[in-house]
Amino acid sequence: MGRQMTCTAPVNIAVIKYWGKRDPTLILPTNSSLSVTLSQDDLHSRTTVSIAPEYDQDRMWLNGIECPVSSNIRLVNCLQAAREQRKAMEAADSSLPSWSTWGIRIASVNNFPTAAGLASSASGYACLVYTLAQVLELPLTPSQLSRYARLGSGSACRSILGGFVGWEMGKLANGEDSLAYQVAPETHWSELEALILVVNDAKKDTSSTVGMQTTVKTSTLAQHRFASVVAERMQQMEQAIQDRNFEQFAKITMQDSNQFHAICLDTYPPIFYLNDTSRTIIRIVTTINELCPEIQAAYTFDAGPNAVIYAPKQHMPRLIQLFTYFFPAAHPLPSEEFFNDPYHCVPTGVT
Ligand code: DP6
Repeated sequence: MGRQMTCTAPVNIAVIKYWGKRDPTLILPTNSSLSVTLSQDDLHSRTTVSIAPEYDQDRMWLNGIECPVSSNIRLVNCLQAAREQRKAMEAADSSLPSWSTWGIRIASVNNFPTAAGLASSASGYACLVYTLAQVLELPLTPSQLSRYARLGSGSACRSILGGFVGWEMGKLANGEDSLAYQVAPETHWSELEALILVVNDAKKDTSSTVGMQTTVKTSTLAQHRFASVVAERMQQMEQAIQDRNFEQFAKITMQDSNQFHAICLDTYPPIFYLNDTSRTIIRIVTTINELCPEIQAAYTFDAGPNAVIYAPKQHMPRLIQLFTYFFPAAHPLPSEEFFNDPYHCVPTGVT
């Protein structure tokens, strides 16, 4: 008889971006970062993990398609870290069943486009390690669990926690202090909402992993960012969140998105994630902020052209009206069933 568990994990969207690794194997970043974890009701990964003594090898399916496990070093590292902890528990207490020796099967689906710069690896790996820890009964705090998620994808460590979440870059070479922590729970600032503008849901051209390694190697602007910009911004951003100061939150969010895309451009050869539509969105937000007596909205873009707009709840209806005016739907929106069917996503593999 085996054991099985299914969990969901949400996406997080960074307002201080992580871009650069000082250790690509342990996924240790070159700077701290901070994000907002979105509601589970929206974009999420749903993962089932089962373990059984008769499973002769570990297997994984993503959006219904089997992906080889042994060649996916990040996945192997996550499974190994969890198994090793379980093994140590079993060695210390002989009454515990030997689940560490059982094979693992994983089935994961995203209810949104995979690998299109919408943080699918963040929710995917967070969900995987969380579910695995439940199945193996690992006694871990969310912060400790974030270390395992980080081995799968850097940004995944922040999806383990809800609300406003920081990822401390840490100093140690073994990564033990490179952990996620909660800055404030979601309830602290529930008027803040996020609107996702899907500009393009195709798989991104340059994966985050490859892109950030080239940036670290070639961008001098990135070195300036790591050494002189992010630490102060982290403090200012944490303060803005504590004070629910949208003006400050929005300004830092937009500046940090701009700087992230600037270091992509400063990378050699350059990386372009924004397109003309993204730049029009930037112009719309900037113009409306200039025209209104107080700042209305903040944009941020990850490794793709899609925008996330943060705004106080009371401004959202007007913003949605504005974006629909500038970008009217070219064809009727798909039915609700389409959105509820996670298998419509293109299976592209975890990046
Ligand atoms: C632009 O976490 O996807 O979204 O650690 O190589 O898996 P890996 O990269 P990933 O990078 C995310 C980069 C970002 C910014 C952010 O989320 O902080």
